[in-house]
Amino acid sequence: MDIRIGIAGLGTIGSGVVELIRENALVIREKTGVSLSVVAIAEPAIDSRPDFDRTGIRIYKDGMDLVSDPAVDILVELVGGVVFPKKLVLAALENGKHVVTANKALLAKEGQEIYQTAARKQLALGIEASVAGGIPVIKTIREALVGNRILEIRGIINGTCNYILTRMAEHGLSFAAALAEAQARGFAEADPTLDITGGDAAHKIAILAALAFNTPVDMADVHVEGIDRIDTNDIRYARELGYVVKLIGIARERGDAGIEARVHPTLVPVDDQLASIRNEFNAVFLRCDFLGDGMLTGKGAGSRPTASAVVGDIVDIALAMRDHNTMPPFFSSARKRPLVPFGRTENRYYMHFSTVDKPGIMSRITGILGENNISIASMIQKEAGSEEAVPVVMISHTAVEENMARAIAAIDALPEVRKPTVVIRAL
Ligand code: HSE
Repeated sequence: MDIRIGIAGLGTIGSGVVELIRENALVIREKTGVSLSVVAIAEPAIDSRPDFDRTGIRIYKDGMDLVSDPAVDILVELVGGVVFPKKLVLAALENGKHVVTANKALLAKEGQEIYQTAARKQLALGIEASVAGGIPVIKTIREALVGNRILEIRGIINGTCNYILTRMAEHGLSFAAALAEAQARGFAEADPTLDITGGDAAHKIAILAALAFNTPVDMADVHVEGIDRIDTNDIRYARELGYVVKLIGIARERGDAGIEARVHPTLVPVDDQLASIRNEFNAVFLRCDFLGDGMLTGKGAGSRPTASAVVGDIVDIALAMRDHNTMPPFFSSARKRPLVPFGRTENRYYMHFSTVDKPGIMSRITGILGENNISIASMIQKEAGSEEAVPVVMISHTAVEENMARAIAAIDALPEVRKPTVVIRAL
């Protein structure tokens, strides 16, 4: 069976897809009987790629030309952004083309219309590459774990942030130097703000939560904090207390209260499986009622790992086309489950107070914590040295987010507290 592919966007991933198909077409044919060929590419900036081998490929500048190209069976959308890709993907589906996309922002923000259009047209939509690059997490949730209730997902799902935090923790790099390295290595988004402010991971956890809990998830309800305010001192103090700092996406079943979906820096105990995930590697931990606990890990960003996921989807679709099957729709019900407000979530907390070193301060701080039902699990205080304010670091037992916010506001209003308290949630 010959499958003709049109690729919109010849950036990092698009180039990887072309490379993979050129390198491994024979391997794929031997394993599956499917022959893949890239017949057309749309790339407005193609003139800046004079070295690109165009043999056998029609080149367009406008992605919409792929949609009307009758020789394209599967449209692979690798453009980035939301407005144009949405137009492109919907037009491709309306035109009877199957679609594969790596576009997490598109799926997190506009997924419902796209999923519904694909289901109505009985066309396949491949989205594996949208979350955790080359790791087959979507397929695992939709197929392998379909017999389970998923209770919780914890994911290191932004390679750039994991790379930055690893380099800061292990090599003492500054945030800016570590980010520059991640950009040079091709993990970061075109605009890395999306990575470091947590937006990219939030898109991914919204997609995973929607699939795991079979419900539409509104991005506006997902609590998001990035790593842009993480300081090397906090990474060091956390380490002294037995934790590493990671950006974690969490999606959790809360029964009648609804579901949780959030992204924030998180202290992970050093002996937790997620703590060992370093550099650009991603990992998705899944807690299920029958499987129990499981974790998938691998390269979550970059040209070749992400191309691997895109091509996996293409071959799945090709096999369904060969067998005249339709792919199952993403959601069996459009029943929307509420998201638990962030203030009602429960966490453990790392707190770094900057306070003058005077008698009675500690009891005032712990008093406010106690009044808000927050109990302390461990604590360190550093000597002041030449600075006026001393760092006092505590880790709490489980507490309610809104109680913690109230306590911190009261503590930060104390005249002896010299800087806003750093709060990082802990697993
Ligand atoms: N910028 C993303 C990351 C790429 O760093 O994980 C993969 O989505």
